[in-house]
Amino acid sequence: MSGSVCVVGSINMDLVVRTPRLPAPGETILGGPFETFPGGKGANQAVAAARMGARVSMVGRIGADDYGQSLRAMFVREGVDATAIRATAGTATGVGVIIVDERAGENTIVVAPGANASLTPEDVESVAGIVRSAAVLLVQLETPFETVEAAIRIARGAGRRVVLNAAPAGVVPGAMLRQVDLLVANRGEAALLTGGAAEDDPLTLARDALRLGPAAVVVTAGAEGACLAARDGSLRVPSIPVRAVDSTAAGDAFCGSVAAWLASGRSVEEAVRAGCVAGALAATRAGAIPSLPKAHDVSVRLSDLGVSVTC
Ligand code: RIB
Repeated sequence: MSGSVCVVGSINMDLVVRTPRLPAPGETILGGPFETFPGGKGANQAVAAARMGARVSMVGRIGADDYGQSLRAMFVREGVDATAIRATAGTATGVGVIIVDERAGENTIVVAPGANASLTPEDVESVAGIVRSAAVLLVQLETPFETVEAAIRIARGAGRRVVLNAAPAGVVPGAMLRQVDLLVANRGEAALLTGGAAEDDPLTLARDALRLGPAAVVVTAGAEGACLAARDGSLRVPSIPVRAVDSTAAGDAFCGSVAAWLASGRSVEEAVRAGCVAGALAATRAGAIPSLPKAHDVSVRLSDLGVSVTC
């Protein structure tokens, strides 16, 4: 897969404990061993796209601390261009505090944004050449909103495709959504955007979100797969059966894979099929970045489904 992707987004170190169940408010429970994993929605999506074979550049901010250094080294090992990652003096690298329910593989996450909050529109403008040189810009909502806007403006100005993952859940103005080629949201995120409910049919949520202005919308629905709505039609894409041990970064695996497939010239439908497989495989392994599948793993599962692929 030979396309290029630029990710403008967050970079975190995840601090993770697995527990027999999620604690109730005010409750203390004992968990398993404490682990750290590289994470952050932006970083996860960048590595997911790189593992699909795309050429990936990451634009973001880390702290001038040990976590920041270790995350920068991780990008280099993964073959992601890290030249547009800046260190912010006097600010900690972003951290995700994650509790994983080991029965269901579900999680709760609290993010301390740290240096991610200091990623400015000027940072992105200073590396505009990197943003413009990629076929696809992939952004999320874990860095300041005006920075996401600046990245989209630069990419659109150069005629590049824009994929927006509306995570974490937030309100996104129509002016931004109308600049987006593909909006990716889970059910809760889509419900917030559309005024619907997270329990609604994901296809209804996708069709409702399409009316807000993006050229296409995918609503991800975990083990149920995803629903794609575009101006020329809509469809449900199934997931593959897996034993989920940790859903952290499953959505990021989806987004990064979709961006990589779009960048290599595949259709939105093909990209979403690959994204569903990548997301399901990510849920079978612990941690964020360690769980992200490689292109070969996704191709094998797609071939099993009868979808022809050459990565
Ligand atoms: O989507 C999962 C990610 O959300 C974690 O890696 C955590 O850092 C938060 O950004």
